[in-house]
Amino acid sequence: MEIDNHMSMDKRLAELKERRQKIELGGGADKLAKHRSQGKLTARERIAALVDSNSFQETGLFAEHRAVLFGMAGKEAPADGVVTGAGTIGGRLIHLASQDFTVLGGSAGELHSTKVAEIMAQSLKTGTPFVFINDSGGARVQEGIDSLSGYGKVFHTNVMLSGAVPQISLICGPCAGGAAYSPALTDFVIQTRQAQMFITGPQVIKQVTGEQVTAEQLGGPDAHMVNSGVIHFIAENDEEAALLCQKLLSFLPSNNMEDPPVLASDGNVDPNPVLNDIVPDDPKQPYDVRDVILNVIDNADFLEVQSGFAPNIVIGFGRIVGRAVGIIANQPAYLAGVLDINASTKASRFIRFCNAFNIPLLTFVDVPGFLPGVQQEHGGIIRHGAKMLFAYSAATVPKLTVILRKSYGGAHLAMCAKDLGADRCFAWPTAEVAVMGAEGAVEIVFRKEIQEAQDKAARRKELIEEYRKVFANPYVAAGRRLVDDVIEPASTRFVIAQSLEYLNTKRELRPAKKHGLIPL
Ligand code: HXC
Repeated sequence: MEIDNHMSMDKRLAELKERRQKIELGGGADKLAKHRSQGKLTARERIAALVDSNSFQETGLFAEHRAVLFGMAGKEAPADGVVTGAGTIGGRLIHLASQDFTVLGGSAGELHSTKVAEIMAQSLKTGTPFVFINDSGGARVQEGIDSLSGYGKVFHTNVMLSGAVPQISLICGPCAGGAAYSPALTDFVIQTRQAQMFITGPQVIKQVTGEQVTAEQLGGPDAHMVNSGVIHFIAENDEEAALLCQKLLSFLPSNNMEDPPVLASDGNVDPNPVLNDIVPDDPKQPYDVRDVILNVIDNADFLEVQSGFAPNIVIGFGRIVGRAVGIIANQPAYLAGVLDINASTKASRFIRFCNAFNIPLLTFVDVPGFLPGVQQEHGGIIRHGAKMLFAYSAATVPKLTVILRKSYGGAHLAMCAKDLGADRCFAWPTAEVAVMGAEGAVEIVFRKEIQEAQDKAARRKELIEEYRKVFANPYVAAGRRLVDDVIEPASTRFVIAQSLEYLNTKRELRPAKKHGLIPL
């Protein structure tokens, strides 16, 4: 568009409007129609769904790329394929970037990534969360290593933000190649059913390995929720992704120097008798630990994180009398709640997130131990299980542990035992704190005696009972002060609320160092 330096203000305003409207149309009517036909919102509509109305302030609307090779000279790329700016959610400031697939496939050229990195820096300077809405074919191939360099800036800035402000990625379309690594560096990833995420696509995989796989099988939301553990939430569509992001942010402080927002609460902590009947009398019978969580937190409002990955451990956010807590709970309804490699990495990462953002940890324990097996040992259960020990020990936020039933061996320690720094450890009367289960213990201690017995089965049973009588209760542990109190399950909400209140001013200093060395 030519510039006439002698235009009247009216004409200038008309020109401004025209330029703005053209850019806001993104890649044009045809591309928008194709995009919408896939059930997707546009980059700008996604922003509108996320932030408070009229709160969005855009940066870099008129940005233009300077690429000239491979047909790029003079090629229009409105906003260079990414909308960046600031807005509010429920009145709280965030910064964001939203890639526009209708513009060169949302591909990330040098300017595109510079815009993203610049708005991320604003997040850090202002101490506010960063949300990145991804919809991109990856590095803009025409710009070669300049686009690679752009990604480098984004990744580096992701790491600068890490632990200082919350970072959330929404994956709303393709997220290919380099595009997948920025989300991987953020704290939470929400993927829609219309999106696929991978480093190398199906065609390259077929060429290199001969494997045949569809994009959906390779990098659809189910693949990443169940198999890879890369994502934390699945959203049915863009609108739901925005709602999930808003909900998630409601539990989080804006930065690591603040506490999470405290919501108004009626303060009700009356006994909840339902809790007395959740753990079955038979110690081998499973139950759903989410029933415990829902009956302890405010309004049964639990935001479960990574629900489809390693379901033997449940993690997520809830509130107790308005205060946000990060909940970690063994799930006896799946693999008896055992700790395995995936459960350990899932929970450890969550614990570290909560600690970084001043969210107290509430741990519910019913764990028979670490999962035995060659696959687990060779997969590195020693290294991964150690992450739990590290993450809990390193955490300085208030740490509250409630032992519901089994709490055996190394897994007892790994689920935030007092010796790992739990500020309070409560046990239900059904709790069993022991070095291992009675069946296993008897095989080790009394093997000879059982072998020599006339009726081996009867003697084994007798010895198991004897061992259980000594250790299958919370009182030995309470006697050693490994448990602070044995409580009626119905009173759990009251006890946790009181503990959070008393620990609100907790400060715990650690030796000065660059950083600890979690076993990665
Ligand atoms: C430039 C791209 C592009 C890219 C897509 N486009 N990806 N342009 N660079 N990386 C363009 C297409 O040419 C097309 O332009 C438009 O975007 C829409 O793409 P389509 O292919 O028509 O859309 P669709 O059929 O929906 O397929 C989407 C897709 C596919 C699955 C993302 O485009 C694709 O496979 N792209 C390449 C993905 C990839 O290999 N990325 C890795 C890049 S290298 P026109 O003008 O025809 O509409 C990388 C390394 C960085 O990222 C490493 C850093 C660590």
